[in-house]
Amino acid sequence: MPTIQKTYNVAVIPGDGIGKEITPVAQQVLERAARGVADFSYTYFDLGAERYLRDGSILPDEELDRIKRTDAILLGAIGDPRIKAGILERGLLLKLRFSLDQYVNLRPSKLFRGVESPLKNPGDIDFAVVREGTEGLYCGAGGAVRRGTPQEVATEVSINTAYGVERVVRYAFDLAMRRRRHVTLVHKKNVLVNAGDMWQRIVDDVAKEYPDVTHDYLHIDAATIFMVSQPSRFDVILTDNLFGDILTDEAGEVVGGVGYSASGCINASGEYPSMFEPIHGSAPDIAGKGIANPTAAVLSSAMLLRHLGLDEPAERIERAVEADIEQSGAVQRSTKQIGDDILARL
Ligand code: IPM
Ligand code: MN
Repeated sequence: MPTIQKTYNVAVIPGDGIGKEITPVAQQVLERAARGVADFSYTYFDLGAERYLRDGSILPDEELDRIKRTDAILLGAIGDPRIKAGILERGLLLKLRFSLDQYVNLRPSKLFRGVESPLKNPGDIDFAVVREGTEGLYCGAGGAVRRGTPQEVATEVSINTAYGVERVVRYAFDLAMRRRRHVTLVHKKNVLVNAGDMWQRIVDDVAKEYPDVTHDYLHIDAATIFMVSQPSRFDVILTDNLFGDILTDEAGEVVGGVGYSASGCINASGEYPSMFEPIHGSAPDIAGKGIANPTAAVLSSAMLLRHLGLDEPAERIERAVEADIEQSGAVQRSTKQIGDDILARL
């Protein structure tokens, strides 16, 4: 008797540039890996630079409402040099993260066998950055007065709530329990004494509930040094929104470039869907040529599966990608070829 599989409704936002080329590969891999376990039905959203240039819309409420009702979101890449910095970032990407309360920005970094790190002695690199996703300097609190005059004043205020910090701290400790059981808080508590002190106290309090997890602390400046001098010391890095943004670009680079880095914007309460996207951007310089590496998008689809509780197919994708990189990572291949090679291993 055929078993009835659950069908997940996934919002797909291919976005701009290479996003349109790599996202279909991620979908193909997702389906193949979950075959016999789950089905996917897609709702496509035409959002990003082209839509904005065409009709001025960035993220209409009606579309946001439909996205809210899906089970998960797969996003390609957003960005276009023709559009002023900040418009799509704030109006689309950050609006999604904030409206869907995606308070965990999870960014794993692993140096795969067959990938060359720019570090001379990389060692074993396998850590995950848990970046807070809905607070800090990204809130949009602040403003400008006397704009364009010599007396201009511009402020950006970092908002940190005990509620917002505690929930992401708990996520980091829970994650550490499933990994090597170590959390490193990264902040700048010697200067940002208000927020830094609150983060540290909340970490110390939550840590009491996790006797098996050790934790330490690094200032952000020191963390950028250890990231290149001793990256194997890290297991789970826990940090705020802006520090996490900067540190994860550096992390992507030490594991061979952001082309291998996936990420999840996670609403861990399950109230709204979570969103999975490669860390890299839309790469307008190579868009349309069919040569973009879909690996980060494929790994993002594995994170999506894991988020839905489909651990086994998620692992299959990760193993297929690891094997593919080990065997052919150094070979110049088209987007389609890399996708086909990964599919062949599933
Ligand atoms: C990222 C990006 C975004 C961020 C920008 C585009 C808003 O840099 O996903 O890391 O700063 O979070
Ligand atoms: Mn970034």
